Amino acid sequence: MRVLLLGGTSEASRLAALFAGRRDIDATLSFAGRTKAPIAPPIPYRTGGFGGIEGLAAYLKAQRVDVLVDATHPFAEQMSRHAALAAARANVPLIVLSRPPWAPEPDDRWINVDDMAGAAAALGPQAQRVLLTVGRLQLKAFEAAPHHFYLIRAIDPIEPKPNLPRHRVIAERGPFAVEAEERLLREEKIDVIVTKNSGAAATFAKIVAARRLALPVIMVARPSSASTPALNDPSDALAAILRHVKAPAPRGV
Ligand SMILES: NC(=O)c1ccc[n+]([C@@H]2O[C@H](COP(=O)([O-])OP(=O)(O)OC[C@H]3O[C@@H](n4cnc5c(N)ncnc54)[C@H](OP(=O)(O)O)[C@@H]3O)[C@@H](O)[C@H]2O)c1
Repeated sequence: MRVLLLGGTSEASRLAALFAGRRDIDATLSFAGRTKAPIAPPIPYRTGGFGGIEGLAAYLKAQRVDVLVDATHPFAEQMSRHAALAAARANVPLIVLSRPPWAPEPDDRWINVDDMAGAAAALGPQAQRVLLTVGRLQLKAFEAAPHHFYLIRAIDPIEPKPNLPRHRVIAERGPFAVEAEERLLREEKIDVIVTKNSGAAATFAKIVAARRLALPVIMVARPSSASTPALNDPSDALAAILRHVKAPAPRGV
């Protein structure tokens, strides 16, 4: 059984770990190549785009892929759309693995917004100290609100420098601990956090720390979800793949 696993998430890494050492699954993990030094996976991997829907469909056929697993980040909207269309075109079953979104608790002070422009606007007219954890590709939206100070956290240093007059970048990779997040928020006198609702366990500590300090969190909602229902657990994804070994289905889980 040949599996192409679209990754860049901790769920994909966990599924790759389940594949490692199995003789019945020949899987390749695919990275976009955004992170300079991704953590080396325990299975073969490739890096870089496929060249759109056509390119991915051609890859699926050329590599004789039996099952495509989309375990990309919930905000990797384009890749997920391409995966669904290419799988249909190549007549390859698609399994979607995605973590559920975070849900607010009674003590949380979330300001829900639909997109990054909404997040920048929600910071308001008064200058604030903002912890910005939205990824380097989303910083442009905050150029519309240059009066705030932004403490930007990203996995790699950001080049070219963000076009924000008052900012500092901290290059750090999760998982983060609640105590350390609380310390960071206090020491940096952060007024508000901006984050995507990624649902990741590795980055949830900042949400708990904000709750403890009664800080507001501007929460950017996920893009509207794709048509294929998602599994949340890597072991459920493995079970779904194994079902395809026993009884190949035309498409879907
Ligand atoms: N968006 C986020 O907030 C976020 C956060 C953490 C991790 N990630 C990971 O970072 C990667 C890029 O995210 P994005 O939001 O920039 O994606 P995107 O906008 O949905 O995708 C843009 C293009 O990047 C290529 N690509 C994306 N994921 C790929 C993969 N796993 N393997 C090969 N090519 C891939 C595809 O190029 P072609 O059209 O040429 O095939 C795709 O059309 C994804 O793998 C995602 O899981 C994203």
